[in-house]
Parts: sequence; C-alpha cells; structure tokens
Amino acid sequence: MKTLTYTVDADGIATIAIDVPGRPMNVLTPEFQNDLAAAVESLAGDAAVKGAIITSGKPGAFIAGADIKDMVNSFAAGISAKQGAELSQKLSRLLRRLETCGKPVACAINGLALGGGFEVALACHYRVLAQDASVGLPEVNLGLLPGAGGTQRLPRLVGIEKAGPILLGGQPLKAAEALKLGLVHAVAPAAELVGLARKWLLETPRAVQPWDEKGYRIPGGAGPAASHAAISFTMGTAVAAKNTQRNLPAPLAILSCLYEGTLLPIDTALKVESKYFGQLLSGPVARNLMRTMFINKNAADKLARRPDGVPASKVKKLGILGAGMMGAGIAHVSAAAGIEVVLLDSTREMAEKGKQLSATLLQKALERGKTTQAKVDAQLERIKPTTDYADLTGCDLVIEAVFESRAIKAEVTQKTDAVIPQTAIFASNTSTLPITGLAAMFSRPADFIGLHFFSPVDKMPLVEVIMGRDTSPATLAKALDYVAQIRKTPIVVNDSPGFYTSRVFATYFQEGILMLEEGVAPALVENAARMVGMSVGPLAVSDEVTLELQLKVIEQNLADGQAPTAHLPRIVEVLRTMVCDLKRSGRRGGGGFYDYPAEGKTLWPALSQHFPLAAQQPDVEEAKKRLLYIQALETARCVEAGVVMEPADADLGSILGIGFPAWTGGTLSFIDTLGLPAFVAECERLAAQYGPRFQPSEWLKAKARKGETFHPPLSAAA
Ligand code: NAI
Repeated sequence: MKTLTYTVDADGIATIAIDVPGRPMNVLTPEFQNDLAAAVESLAGDAAVKGAIITSGKPGAFIAGADIKDMVNSFAAGISAKQGAELSQKLSRLLRRLETCGKPVACAINGLALGGGFEVALACHYRVLAQDASVGLPEVNLGLLPGAGGTQRLPRLVGIEKAGPILLGGQPLKAAEALKLGLVHAVAPAAELVGLARKWLLETPRAVQPWDEKGYRIPGGAGPAASHAAISFTMGTAVAAKNTQRNLPAPLAILSCLYEGTLLPIDTALKVESKYFGQLLSGPVARNLMRTMFINKNAADKLARRPDGVPASKVKKLGILGAGMMGAGIAHVSAAAGIEVVLLDSTREMAEKGKQLSATLLQKALERGKTTQAKVDAQLERIKPTTDYADLTGCDLVIEAVFESRAIKAEVTQKTDAVIPQTAIFASNTSTLPITGLAAMFSRPADFIGLHFFSPVDKMPLVEVIMGRDTSPATLAKALDYVAQIRKTPIVVNDSPGFYTSRVFATYFQEGILMLEEGVAPALVENAARMVGMSVGPLAVSDEVTLELQLKVIEQNLADGQAPTAHLPRIVEVLRTMVCDLKRSGRRGGGGFYDYPAEGKTLWPALSQHFPLAAQQPDVEEAKKRLLYIQALETARCVEAGVVMEPADADLGSILGIGFPAWTGGTLSFIDTLGLPAFVAECERLAAQYGPRFQPSEWLKAKARKGETFHPPLSAAA
C-alpha cells in the first residue's frame, strides 16, 4: 500500500498511518481510498487483531480533505449528478464498513482534519485530538456539502441544533471547542495521542457507534420532531435563503440533509446525503467557486504571474507618500508584515494622523485579545511619520498615495526620485490615472508600476498590479513579492484608464444610476443588486465613491472613448442634479442617494421627487440581469483590449476587488457558464432595449461563433 502503512503490534493493536506520497497534506485520493479499504478488510479479517488506531504519518497534519484539484478535473468530464452521488457513495460505503467492521477503531487526530479528513475521524469509534489542531467541515465554502457522512454522523453525535451551525458556517473549530461540543472524546498534546488511543482500545473499547446501538435516538430529536426544529429548520431555511438569496444551493441542501436524513436509518440517510452532494458537485456554482476561490486564488497567492528568472526579493524599508485614507492603510498592513515604513505627508500633523489609523486598529485588536501589547508597540515603532524626503533614503519600494492630481503626483515623484537608491522601485496607487503617463515623471520608467489597493486596505484582500508600457519584468516580480509579503492576493493587468477593476465597477454603478434616471424605484435597483449577490448596491456604492469623483471618471471615459458613450450624458445629468443643484455629493458630503443618520443609512426619501418613478416598473430579474451583464461585458472588452491577460485575474479581481458575486466564479466564469452564444444573444437583446452600451463587439461575436470560452477546459488548465 502506497498511501498508508498497516502494522500490528504484540498486543494485537493495528496502526494505520496515513502518508499520501508527494503531498504536503494527506488528501483523499482514489488510491488512498483503495488502500484504506484494504486496511479495513485486514483489520476485520484477522482474528488476532483487537482493534486499530488511525493516525497520520505526516507530523502536525491529519487529512486536509478531498483533493480539490481532482474534483475540479472531474467537472471537465462533465460529471452528472448521478456520477457525483456515486463518488460520494463510494467513500461513504467505505467509512460505513469501517465503523461496522466489528473491531474498535480509534482515531489519533494529530493535526488539521478538514472535510473528508474529519469525516474519516467521525466514522471512528473514539477520537482524540491534538491540543493545537483544528477540525471542521468547510465544504459549504466551496459550494458543496460533506459527502462522506458528515451531514449524518454529526447530528447523530451532537444533535441537529449544534450540527447545523458547524455544517452551515464551515469554520474550523479549535481543539477546546471541538471537545466542548462533543465532537471528540479527548484532547491531548500530539505526543500523547497514540498512547491514549491504545489505552482506550485495551481498556474500554467499543466497536459500535452510538447510532448503531439498539434504541438509539438523535440528541434533541430528529427532523420536525427535534426540540428546536422551529429554529433549525423554519428559521434556518429562511436565514439561509436570505443570506444566499438562493444563489448558493449548498446551505439549503445541507438543511435538507439534516431534515430528511435524521428521519431515516443511517444507511438510507447516507444515500440521501450522496444524492444532494451529487447535485451540488455537478452544478456550476461549486465548479466556479472552487476554480476561482480555491485553485486560482491559491495560484495567485503563490505568484503564478511572477516572471521567471528574477531573484526573490523582500521589502525591508517602504516609503509611502500621502498618509490619507489609502496611505495610512498601506502603512498599517505593511508594518503588520514586519516592514519598516516611512509615512510621508505634507504636514507633520497629517503624517501623524495616518499613523493613528494603525494605533486605532491595533487597539481594537488588543481589546479583542487578537494581539499583545508588545506586538502593538513593535508594530507602531515600525511606522515613522515624516515630512522630510531625506527619510526615504534606503527604501526598497516607494508607494505614492497622494491626491489624485497629476501635478501633485509629479512633484512628489520627482522629489522621491532624487533621494531613493537606483535599485528601488516606485509604485503609484492611483485609481484612475494611466501608469505610463505617471511613469514619465520618474527617471526610470522601467522601475515604475501601479499597485492599486482597495479601501479599507486592512480588510480588502486584493491588489491590482498594473504594468505601464515600460514596466520591466523585474519590477513586476519585485512588486509581486511585496504583495505576497503583505499577504494580499495580486492580479496583473495592463495599463488603461481605470485599469480593470475600476473600469468594470464604473459600469455597475452607472447602470444603477441609469435605472434611477429611467424611473426605476431606487429600492428596486438596490434590492436587485443585493438579490444577485453584489456586496453593495450601485447607489450606495456611488455615495461611497462620491458623486463628484464619478463625474470625473465619466469625463475621462468621454475623453478616451474606450467604450460606448451614448448613455454617459444621461448619467452626467443625474450627477449634476445631485451634486450641483441638490448639494448631495455622497456619504462624505453628508448625503447622496442615501441619508446617513447616526446609525445605518436609508434611501433619500426625496429621490423620487427629482427622479419620478415610471408608471411601469421592471421585473426585478431584468434589473438583476442588467447589473451583472454590463460588468461581464465590460470585462470581455478588457480582454479584447489586452488590459486583462488571464481569465483567472478577471474572475479574482471581480470577486475580491469589486464584490461581484462569488457564486458566479467571477465575471468571465459567469459568461462561460451561460455559454458565450447565449450571453452574446442576451446582450444584443439588452442593447436593442437599453442602448449600445450592451452591444457585444464583433470580436466577442466571432468568439461566440467559434464556440470558444474564456477559460480553457478544466482538464487542460490543470
Ligand atoms: P486622501 O485625500 O485620503 O489622502 C491623500 C493624502 O495625500 C492626504 O493625507 C494629503 O495630505 C496627502 N498629500 C497631498 N498632497 C501631498 C504632497 N504634495 N505631499 C505629501 N502628501 C500630500 O486620499 P486617498 O483616498 O487616500 O487616495 C490617495 C490615492 O489613492 C489617490 O491617488 C486615489 O485615487 C487612490 N486610491 C483611492 C482609493 C479610495 O478608495 N479612496 C482606492 C484606490 C486608490
């Protein structure tokens, strides 16, 4: 057996030590499943063996779960719901055989046990967990459910009330919590686990699971008879439907497994679980979520886009120009990563104020017990507020985040150029000004790059890295090394006004404003956005961006004519009415499309006086469609224009940067899932109805005719 060792000692205790070769973590490969099946038969068939201990041969890591890459590849073959259910049944039958083989089995969980890994542990009769390890069932995050008995053994072990949040939340549980919830029998230092498992096998073994005992009842009751059924099912279903807007099928499928499965004997219940698992695995949501949020995000985090042949670099000293909202945020995340930061602003007071953001965020973390005073002090010590350019001497990287003005940016770039070493690279955090133009103000344009952060910097995971015309591969490599150093996810795009994310995001809020102008009820616009899974409504986000800034962006769009512009004067009209006539410039200005009382926000009641409601309101499905299609189409335009080079970047940028719904897998996965011909046809219908901004280009239409997709078939991508 290649993936585990099976040994029997003098006391008749078998040890099954899992060690899947060539993998940093054990995963449930088909080969491992075959080996485990063989080990279980040896255990069952050998009268000299009293019982077994399952553990991992990899120190500190038990089993990380299913092999996601394998799973994603199975999509390429166009897996059916039935085939998906069979995959689940195969492992389920194996684990059922394990727990009914007649011999007691103890599990020494010596490290992280997630998903299928934890399901293996749940099929053992006794579980002892390392005190620094975690267990969990994160499948819901991938659009799936635990398909190897997790949705059935967990409620049978701890009751539906406790099992629900574990299955629906998908969060890992630390050892102490797992013990308290009754998921494991004991917690101990890693070195003592096998000893405890042996002790149980020799002194108090029991080869029958509670649910196979005569007269067993699920703690708290089953299905509608559960004591808390009203909360778990009635409210649980309503909450899951509200949270997902039924865009994500997994939470409701998990609730169905809990409801239906707990009313059935375990063997039938496991079949019900497999049926739901197969439906999820064969659906587009799981495939898209896994590809974008797991495979492609991991690849981006490991710097898949980093040019080869450039030695690894590390920023020791970082200069930041402008200690405003963005500069202060960048200083905070950089100091948190151990980087020495010089935070420069035009006055001492402004620079100090920028550092204050870190002090405030760290104080909150301290109050929540997430850090220590010593760490807070050390991190604050690393940020040096200043007004003196001489302090930038010796910086490896300087990031400019001053006002969005070419003249001011030119001045600070040139002053910095004079003092930093020739080896340093220079980045701008501009959100709208093309990088190539800004690079011309620097003596070494090859060493100039865009690093576009998102607000608030401490929370937003993405950095959009923008290549100027002259940016060198070495500069890109260094910039990516820095993004990895601060533990953010990078995407790499080419220069263009608005780059990729801002350009697509603008189409989103502009579509919302156009609907308002057409007389669509503002609440319908905002609700359509939420229902489709956008993180913020287009009118709310307009207020955040400020309506003035949007005017500026539109003027820019009109000037460079990069996309259809016929609709823009209508938006300008709305924005001018709001900003100039009504003095409502957005949130910072005290109010915009929304009012901002002390708590929360409400749509401004007078909006309908200024933008009268149309007698005929559109169907919400049409509003949802407009908001998603316009962003997806703009992304396709970015691919056509060469701004976006890799489909994975487009998908990740849309979800992590602008809150495009994760269930779609991102803007280009959204198009691929619909199918390009269907997408193009629908865009043409929308163009006929709402205007040329929805008109697909000849390039896109040709791509559709040729049967192409944006992503390569998954098997080819793997
Ligand atoms: P902000 O107005 O909060 O901060 C700008 C800072 O630059 C101020 O502290 C100001 O005192 C300082 N500054 C201005 N002139 C200076 C000079 N000559 N020397 C030194 N410091 C000077 O602006 P914010 O929002 O932080 O934006 C900064 C940059 O980041 C802009 O280019 C903006 O387009 C970009 N950006 C903004 C995002 C946002 O959500 N606000 C998102 C991504 C990029």
